[in-house]
Amino acid sequence: MHYRVLGRSGIDVSLLSLGTGGASQFGQKTGVDDAGRKRLVHVALDHGINLFDTAELYGRSEELLGMALEGVPRDRYLLATKWPYRRGDEFAEAGALTRSVENSLRLLKTDVIDIMQFHGILPGDYDPVVDRFMPEMKRLRDAGKIRLIGFTEMMTKDPKATIPLKGVTDHPNDWDVIMLKYGILNQWAAKEVLPLAEKHGVGIMNMAPVRQTLTRDDERKALFDQWRRDGSVDVSSLDENDPFGWLVHDDVNSVIDAGYRFAAMHSGISTVITGTANVEHLEANVRSLEAESLNVPDYRRLLELFGNSAAPN
Ligand SMILES: NC(=O)c1ccc[n+]([C@@H]2O[C@H](COP(=O)([O-])OP(=O)(O)OC[C@H]3O[C@@H](n4cnc5c(N)ncnc54)[C@H](OP(=O)(O)O)[C@@H]3O)[C@@H](O)[C@H]2O)c1
Repeated sequence: MHYRVLGRSGIDVSLLSLGTGGASQFGQKTGVDDAGRKRLVHVALDHGINLFDTAELYGRSEELLGMALEGVPRDRYLLATKWPYRRGDEFAEAGALTRSVENSLRLLKTDVIDIMQFHGILPGDYDPVVDRFMPEMKRLRDAGKIRLIGFTEMMTKDPKATIPLKGVTDHPNDWDVIMLKYGILNQWAAKEVLPLAEKHGVGIMNMAPVRQTLTRDDERKALFDQWRRDGSVDVSSLDENDPFGWLVHDDVNSVIDAGYRFAAMHSGISTVITGTANVEHLEANVRSLEAESLNVPDYRRLLELFGNSAAPN
């Protein structure tokens, strides 16, 4: 496993980390049982993965992750979790963040959360979130309940990463970590956010690197059809039925493999989170990030083709 430094925190983080959300939700949605989750987590640890991401909103993921990690020395892993600052149309009330952190600590069976994040800040919500809740977040850090402060973007509502850009522009010293999506079809963050994050030492967790558009032909087809209609991304040079076939050669064995490699190639990325709960897929993704990067011509072609792409998924 390769490691990178998580921004100015100075913490070494594995290049691949394991998420407990997404479509599988740590196997809650894909029929994995507690023993299977424990195996998944131990396979991850054995491969050197040292960061696990979860959230209050991922079903029972916090509790299940706490169970799967039971008995593992706490200094072998980092825990990231999230707080939903909204309840439907309303912002959460004062004190709700502290109660949520206490609950997460209990479920995760730990006395400190390494990375505490505001979950999915929506366009328009950035300023009120910072004004209302940052002081409470900082008090939690001062009290030793959390170590690093971050937020995640809502990629489906903000594919051009305007909220991460606000974060690294307006308060680069308050955010230790930002979680965003950067991938073959989502390169927008490379324009400004990633260079600014590197400049200010903000760690970047790259979520959902393959998600739907690189794993499902129907989703990819719908997206490419839309791009053909609106002209925003020129995909006319690609084979309609197999647009990524040219990427699969030598030791790159699938577009998913290429997707993971691409997701880690920007130096502004600290770690790439995989959301699989399938051990074989996890091990394939480990191999992708232990392998060489994509070759330069293929990488350049992806930048030329999709440098202005901002797929929402
Ligand atoms: N706003 C937010 O805060 C936010 C949003 C999204 C994600 N996240 C975080 O990022 C993590 C990852 O997100 P994600 O799960 O949506 O995205 P992802 O990891 O890019 O995609 C997961 C999907 O890709 C498939 N997959 C992964 N590796 C594969 C392989 N080697 N071969 C075949 N299929 C493969 C998975 O199927 P299988 O399950 O069959 O492997 C699943 O359908 C989440 O768990 C969460 O921690 C945060």
